[in-house]
Amino acid sequence: MKPRAILIRLGIVVVATTVALLGHHFGSEAHIRKRIGQRPLGKATCFTCHFVSTDRLLWAKPRPHHDSPAGLAVSPDGRRLFIALDDRDEVAEADIAALKVLRRAKVPGGPHGLAIDAGGKNLFVTCRHGDRLAVLDAQSLKETASLPVGTGPAAVAFCRTAAGERLIVANSMSDDISVISLAPLKELGRPAAGREPFAVAATSDGARAFVANRLVGLGTIRTMPASEVTVVDPVTARVVRRDSLESAHLSEGIGLDEKRCWALTPLVKVRNMVPITQVAGGWVMSSGLAISDIKRGEVVQVPLDEANDYFADPSAVAVDSAAHRAFVASGGADVVSVLDLDRLAAWLGKANPAERQEAIYDLSLSAEYVVGRIPTRRNPRHLVLSPDGARLLVAERLEDSILVVDANRLIPLGRIVLGDGGVEDPIRRGERVFTTAAYTFQHQFSCRSCHPDGHVDGLSYDFDGDGIGDNLLDNRSLQGVAGTGPFKWNGKNATLEIQCGPRFAKVLMRTDPFPPKQLRDLTTFIRSLPPPRAARNKNAKLTPSQERGRAIFFAVKTPDGKEIPLSRRCVTCHPPPLYSVRLPFNIGTQGQHDTTEAFDTPHLLGVADTAPYLHDGRAQSLEELWTLYNTNDLHGVSSYMNKIQLNDLVEFLKTL
Ligand code: HEC
Ligand code: HEC
Ligand code: HEC
Repeated sequence: MKPRAILIRLGIVVVATTVALLGHHFGSEAHIRKRIGQRPLGKATCFTCHFVSTDRLLWAKPRPHHDSPAGLAVSPDGRRLFIALDDRDEVAEADIAALKVLRRAKVPGGPHGLAIDAGGKNLFVTCRHGDRLAVLDAQSLKETASLPVGTGPAAVAFCRTAAGERLIVANSMSDDISVISLAPLKELGRPAAGREPFAVAATSDGARAFVANRLVGLGTIRTMPASEVTVVDPVTARVVRRDSLESAHLSEGIGLDEKRCWALTPLVKVRNMVPITQVAGGWVMSSGLAISDIKRGEVVQVPLDEANDYFADPSAVAVDSAAHRAFVASGGADVVSVLDLDRLAAWLGKANPAERQEAIYDLSLSAEYVVGRIPTRRNPRHLVLSPDGARLLVAERLEDSILVVDANRLIPLGRIVLGDGGVEDPIRRGERVFTTAAYTFQHQFSCRSCHPDGHVDGLSYDFDGDGIGDNLLDNRSLQGVAGTGPFKWNGKNATLEIQCGPRFAKVLMRTDPFPPKQLRDLTTFIRSLPPPRAARNKNAKLTPSQERGRAIFFAVKTPDGKEIPLSRRCVTCHPPPLYSVRLPFNIGTQGQHDTTEAFDTPHLLGVADTAPYLHDGRAQSLEELWTLYNTNDLHGVSSYMNKIQLNDLVEFLKTL
C-alpha cells in the first residue's frame, strides 16, 4: 500500500472517530435536554435542529407552469369562449365552433374567475393571487381598469340592477364579498361571507346575488357543521340572508333556475363524526346538490351519487336558460352529471317534508332525475353553457383542455386544446393522483375532498372506528408540509410516502394502495405545495402590533423581568424557519379519549388559515389556544398576558 493511501485511510478513521465522538457528545440526551429544557419524548438527530432550511425544499424552487383552465365565460353571441389560465397569468380567447384558441393576453395575479357584461364589451377577471379585479376590453383583450378587492378573489358575477351595473366578487381568503359599481368603477361595500366564499351567481334582474362558501362556519363545528349560501342585495351591498347547508361543505359552484326560484349549489355531504372505517358502508361523504328557494331560503339537499358508485368533488353547476337541465362537473370522478330539472321538480312536488329532509341519504333517488353522465378527461372543475343553451363547455383542468358538448343531444363535439396536459411533469402527475377518486372504494372521495387546494377543510375526523365521534383528529394543511416530518398529530409517520401510501390505503381507501409510481408522483406534488402566502412573504414589514407579538414569541423574559423557563418559550418548540422543532411534547392537551399525552409539535406556516386548532380541533381560534386550553402555562407561559398582548401574539402568528 502506498503511503498516500495509508494517510487517506488514517484520515478517514480520524474524521469518523471525531464525528462519532462529537455525535455522542452533542447527540447525547444531555445536549438536547439542555436545548429544549426537558427530556425529549421522541427521537432526534442532529438534523432535527441544525441545518434546517426551507431554501432547499421543492416548493421553494421554480416549477413548471401549465395551461390549467379555471373560470370560463361565453360572449353574448355564443361564439367566443374566454378562459382564465391562473397558472400562466393569462386569459385566452377561443372560437367555440372552430375549437381553436384565437389568442392569449397577459393578466398578472392569477386570473381565476371570469364574467362578461350584458353587451359583451367588458370582460371581468378576478386575480386570485393579486387581490384585484381586472377589467379587459373583450375585443382587444387589453386591460382597461383594475380595482383592489378582498384577499384571494375566486369568482365574479355581473348583473344589472335598478341602480346601475354591479359586480359581485367572492373573496375566498378574506371571507368577504366585494360589491362593485361599474360607473364609476368603485367598491360599494364588503359584507362578510361564510368561510371561503368561492362561487357567485346573480339573478337577471340584479335583485339578489348568491355566494357559495367552501368551508363550514367556525361557530358550527362543535355542534352541527354547516356551510352557507350568502345572499346579498347588489344595490345596497348588504347581506339579506344566510342559507345554512347542514352537514355539507366544499360548495365550489352555484347556478340559478329563475323559473322555479331555485339556487343550486353542489356540495359534499360529510359525516365527519362517523368513524372513517365505515367507508365501506358508504358513510363518510357523498356528493349532493342543495336546492335553496331564492325567495324564502328553504333548503332541500338531494344526492348526485348512486348507491354503488359515487361522483366525488362536485365543483361546478350550470343551468340552461329554459330551466330543463342542470349540469354538474365532478372533478374527482371525471364526469359531468346531467339533471332533468322537470323531473326533479316533480319529485319535490310530491315529496312530503320528511322525505325531503331524508332525500340526501337515499342514493337510489338520483335515478329519478339524473338522466346522463358525460365522461370527461382529467378534473372537470368549471363549466358554462352558451347563452342559447346549445353548447356546454367544460374546463378539464388537469388535462389543459376544454370539452365542447352538444348540450341538447349530450354528445361531445371535440376539444379546445390549450396545452399538452403536462404529463412529463411529476408534480402535475401527482396532482392528478391527488384529485382522483379512482383509488377509493366506490370512488367515494379523493385526497382533495378533505384537502381542497392541498389545504384543510376545517373539520376533524374520527379515523379510529372505536365509536362515534370520540377520537377526533383535526385535519392538517399540506401547504408547506415538506420538510416538517414526522407527520400526523402523533408523529408516527416518518415520511410522506408512509403517510400517503399504506396509511391512506388501510384507513381510508379500503382498496389497494397506490401503485409505487403514482405514490412517488403524489408525494412530489405534496412537496411542491408552498405554504400559504404570508409564509412566503418573508420580507413583508410587520405592523407595530405584529412587531410586539414577534417580541412575545421570541421572549426569554416576561415584561416584568421574570425568566421564562426554556421549555415554555414559544421559540424553543416552534423555532424558525419551520416554526416546529419536530419533536413531540406534552403540553397538557390530552383529551379523555386520547391514548397519548405527547403530540408532535405542529409547524406554524400558514397557521392563520387552518382553524380549528390542536390535534382534536378543540380550539376554534388562535386566541382560544391560550384563553381556554393552556393548562398551567405548559403551552408557553401565557398567564401574564393581558388582552392586548395576546392579541399582538396572535397578529404575529398570522404572519407566519
Ligand atoms: C433539540 C434540538 C437539537 C438537537 C437534536 C441537536 N442540537 Fe446542537 N444545538 C441546539 C441548539 C438550540 C444550539 C444552540 C444554538 C445554535 O448554535 O444553533 C445547539 C448548539 C450546538 C453546537 C454549538 C456548541 C454549543 O453547544 O452551543 C454544536 C457543535 C452542536 N449543537 C452539535 C450538535 C450535534 C452534532 C447534534 C447531533 C448529534 C446536535 N447538535 C443535536 C439544538 C440541538
Ligand atoms: C377524510 C378526510 C381525509 C382524506 C380523504 C385525506 N386526508 Fe390527509 N389528513 C386528514 C386528517 C384528519 C389528517 C390529520 C390526521 C392525523 O394527524 O392523524 C390528515 C393528515 C395528512 C397528512 C399529514 C400532515 C402533517 O402535517 O402531519 C398528509 C401528508 C396527508 N393528510 C395527505 C393526504 C393524502 C395524500 C391524501 C390522499 C391520498 C389524504 N391526505 C386524504 C384528512 C384526510
Ligand atoms: C413545549 C413545547 C411547546 C411550547 C413551549 C409551545 N408550543 Fe405550541 N404547540 C406545541 C405542541 C406539542 C402543539 C400541539 C398540541 C396538540 O395538538 O394537542 C402546539 C400547538 C400550537 C399551535 C396550534 C397549531 C395547530 O395547527 O393546531 C400554535 C398556534 C402554537 N402551538 C403556538 C405556540 C406559541 C405562540 C407558543 C408560545 C406562547 C407555543 N406554541 C409554545 C408545543 C409547544
